[in-house]
Amino acid sequence: MKVLVVGGGGREHAVCKKLAESPLVDALLCAPGNAGIAQTAQCFPDVKATDVEAIVALAGKEHVDFVCVTPDDPLALGCVDALEAAGIAAFGPNAYAAQMEASKIFSKNLMKKYGIPTAESEVFTEMDAALAYLDTRRAPIVVKADGLALGKGVVVAGTIEEARQAVVDMMQGGKFGKSGARVLIEECMFGREVTVLCFTDGKCIVPMRASQDHKRAYDGDKGPNTGGMGAFAPSPLYTEDMAKRVTDEILLPTLRAMNAEGFTFKGVLYVGLMLTEDGPKVVEYNARFGDPETQAVLPLLDSDLMEIMMAVREQRLSELDIRWKDGAAACIVLASGGYPGKYESGKLISGLDDAAAAGATVYHAGTKMTDEGYVTAGGRVLGVTALGETLGDAVVNAYAAARKIHFDGVHMRTDIGSKDCK
Ligand code: AMP
Ligand code: GLY
Repeated sequence: MKVLVVGGGGREHAVCKKLAESPLVDALLCAPGNAGIAQTAQCFPDVKATDVEAIVALAGKEHVDFVCVTPDDPLALGCVDALEAAGIAAFGPNAYAAQMEASKIFSKNLMKKYGIPTAESEVFTEMDAALAYLDTRRAPIVVKADGLALGKGVVVAGTIEEARQAVVDMMQGGKFGKSGARVLIEECMFGREVTVLCFTDGKCIVPMRASQDHKRAYDGDKGPNTGGMGAFAPSPLYTEDMAKRVTDEILLPTLRAMNAEGFTFKGVLYVGLMLTEDGPKVVEYNARFGDPETQAVLPLLDSDLMEIMMAVREQRLSELDIRWKDGAAACIVLASGGYPGKYESGKLISGLDDAAAAGATVYHAGTKMTDEGYVTAGGRVLGVTALGETLGDAVVNAYAAARKIHFDGVHMRTDIGSKDCK
């Protein structure tokens, strides 16, 4: 089969590498892709992931048999709907189902209606009402823009003043355009966070290995939120008992709720959990693989990803027996100095081959190929993933490989997994 992956980050590199292992895949394309993905797939740097028309045209022109739509924006824009309408098989939820991520109010209403545990929250369409409500609440409190905001639409405010500022920024400042026209103000939950990526075909839901992301920029979970500075899987917090609880109280009820609402979600449902004193609660759903969780989870997958994606699309996921490797995987993100704030690009990267020789897989997120070699071209530059028998081994192996890579201003957290290594 000829397969096109839509997207161009570290997550898409991991998806491409896994698909390339499949005997079902003869040719792999990626739009736009990136310099690292170009080692595995034919890339189309001029075709933007959000340009649905151009994606459909590319798939047609290249006689693609199957498209995997990975990022949130094209899913919300109806990329899967458009491909399927053009007679091209596609993996991912349709635009309606993608609202599970694209509208926090949509998913919050679904959780409320079907009793799925999550933070209490109120919706506001008027800024004055939101501010008046805040006067009656105590900090910490969470303010969320309704729509997609590049992962930046959530403010966990330590003071009511900070929460007021967030409301004003979102609703008046127009920082997030239409995404901020409606906001949610919700109770702050406390606990550890776990990500459960699930394959679902609308009939059954199959969790992958649970993982943990590290969202803050600096060691000790300090500094600003980022797209994710590292991840590992499986999560030791996700014990068998917890897995059962989450399946019974969250995953199956979510599947039933989506069906009861009359829509079918096919693809990857990302369930972001907070393990609170009162049990596991949903922080958010995403309608796709997570980044960088995928770079830690997919290397542990022992089954054929292409086969799974086809089964999801054809709603015969229950026929498959999805297998996982023993052991653990850790992914360390190497970022440009200054990220998530201002940073410089174009720094020459060395040591990539040494990291690979150390047994790691280096996923490219923001790199560019030049005559001198790979240079940095983004905030998050690389994700270095290594496996190990235990989480501790995986972390040690990943750091050993990551430390072989250099570029000016390179920044990585040095404590990925440290809270959970025994
Ligand atoms: P989201 O974009 O919804 O994933 O939110 C980003 C991050 O904000 C989450 O990973 C949590 O760390 C934090 N967060 C979101 N909602 C809450 C909440 N109700 N209570 C505490 N932290 C939250
Ligand atoms: N790792 C968080 C996300 O993919 O949204």
